[in-house]
Amino acid sequence: MSLKSTPRRYGTIAILIHWITAAAIAVMLGTGLSASNASDPATEAGLLRFHAIVGVCIAVLTVFRIVWWVFFDRRPEDGASPSRLEHLAARSVHYGLYLVILVMVASGMGTLITTGGNLVLFGGGGALPDFALAPPFTVHAIVARLLLILALGHIAAALYHQFIRRDNLLARMGLGR
Ligand code: HEM
Repeated sequence: MSLKSTPRRYGTIAILIHWITAAAIAVMLGTGLSASNASDPATEAGLLRFHAIVGVCIAVLTVFRIVWWVFFDRRPEDGASPSRLEHLAARSVHYGLYLVILVMVASGMGTLITTGGNLVLFGGGGALPDFALAPPFTVHAIVARLLLILALGHIAAALYHQFIRRDNLLARMGLGR
């Protein structure tokens, strides 16, 4: 398999970025909700430290991903001649996911910085602030729901192609032959 994509399949770099990001987003949704609901401050702080570090890694990966597509690689052609509406829906969800991921990272960092939570977690320690009072956290919590909806729509579309249209779309992203 080649590093770059071909007209029929994604390349190794695109496939790796895709699956690493997918796994990391699932971890971020889980750790974010667990931290928000944690009753023990030490557990909340531990989860949040992990959440913040993985979040910054996702940001770096997403910027690399955008640079990769703009300068180094070309997407495979659309499979199984989609209608204009299907093409538009797929593009909107894909670009929407990039945007929403970047907004999540920015609003997460904004939450920590405006509350001083970054200093508590990565500096001298102390009591965690109440994140719910920070305006960037409102954005973070709302956009998290949007991210979940987009991700579920994206998964549903992939399964529709694979099992109803039977066009073996998942093989393009490295699952199957
Ligand atoms: C793709 C990236 C990210 C995702 C998917 C994500 C997801 C989430 C979710 C689902 C929550 C819970 C929201 C709620 O309670 O309604 C949350 C909370 C939070 N996130 Fe993120 N997040 C991301 C990136 C970041 C980053 C980069 C930071 C900081 C550097 C961050 C800091 C926080 C903080 C401070 C909270 C509040 C936790 C608490 O209340 O204890 N997030 N996140």
